[in-house]
Amino acid sequence: MNIVEAEGVKKYFPVKGSILRREKRFIKALDGVSLSIEKGEIYSIVGETGSGKTTLGRILIGLITPTEGSVKIDNIDIFSIGKSEMREIRKRVQIIFQDPYGSLNPRMRIRDIVSEPLKLNRMEYSTEKIARVMEDVGLKPASDFMDRYPHQLSGGQRQRVAIARALAISPEFIVADEPVSMLDVSIRANFLNMMREMNKKYNVSMLMITHDISVASYIGRRISVLYLGKVVEQGENDDIIKNPLHPYTRALMEAIATLGKKEKELHIKGEIPNPMDIPKGCRFHPRCPYAMDICREVEPDLVEISNKHSVACHLYRG
Ligand SMILES: Nc1ncnc2c1ncn2[C@@H]1O[C@H](COP(=O)(O)OP(=O)(O)O)[C@@H](O)[C@H]1O
Ligand code: SF4
Ligand SMILES: [Mg+2]
Repeated sequence: MNIVEAEGVKKYFPVKGSILRREKRFIKALDGVSLSIEKGEIYSIVGETGSGKTTLGRILIGLITPTEGSVKIDNIDIFSIGKSEMREIRKRVQIIFQDPYGSLNPRMRIRDIVSEPLKLNRMEYSTEKIARVMEDVGLKPASDFMDRYPHQLSGGQRQRVAIARALAISPEFIVADEPVSMLDVSIRANFLNMMREMNKKYNVSMLMITHDISVASYIGRRISVLYLGKVVEQGENDDIIKNPLHPYTRALMEAIATLGKKEKELHIKGEIPNPMDIPKGCRFHPRCPYAMDICREVEPDLVEISNKHSVACHLYRG
């Protein structure tokens, strides 16, 4: 059973062009992404900045509308339902943002931050309920934190508040958008362990969005590798990490920073291209050490190579 099913999701942001330019230009943030997340699963999306991760996360919970494609949450097509049905969906999904300093209202006490989604969704709340979820995420004893303000907490504690806030309504699906990237490396593993515990305890499916493949592999049961708005490799954690096929995934693996160590640079040339000018053929070809003639002309499809392990690369064509 899937909690989320995305099919052919595209998101093209129109660019305000110069008056001289006749044709409309678009930033192709997502260019046809399909994935499904099983109930209770933690699924990881990995890719460099600009690959479309945040846009995808937001579309999957209905915060922004795709240009094309569909998203189902528990079999409900969320972009073809009315407002009242969407309100019901909102009670079932939550999102956690990257920046624990910017995402919590600095003028609110922790107790009010955590209870806010319950109030907004007109759900029952009590101090006991708030305290329980705070202690679950490691803010113990909850009474020490309840009446504090975000600035009185560390980055890690703030991100725990963000998780408590998301969990308070007992959602079925949480998008965590780079939740550890601004935390000190020394506390990342602990934080991810806590997320894994919450995944079990609250029976909540999660999408872990990260630019760090070591984070993706630490927590994700399955992984999709995103490059310039397309999935280039998709599979079970072990398959992706032990047997990465796509040259981009391999580059991410070479640059792997084991949790707790300093991050290294990517071993591929150049930077991710501008999504307004996506390279013809394989969109990775300008940076790929294995690029062949066909790669500059023909875009490779995502093809299943072995059991549920798919890759979009001409090196693996039959
Ligand atoms: N609201 C927007 N309007 C225009 N361009 C956007 C918008 N949101 C994102 N983009 C562009 O889409 C691309 C993907 O962005 P994003 O989804 O934030 O990627 P990531 O989270 O992987 O860094 C980037 O080039 C970004 O500048
Ligand atoms: S299709 Fe060609 S350019 Fe693209 S990743 Fe594979 S080998 Fe490299
Ligand atoms: Mg992002």
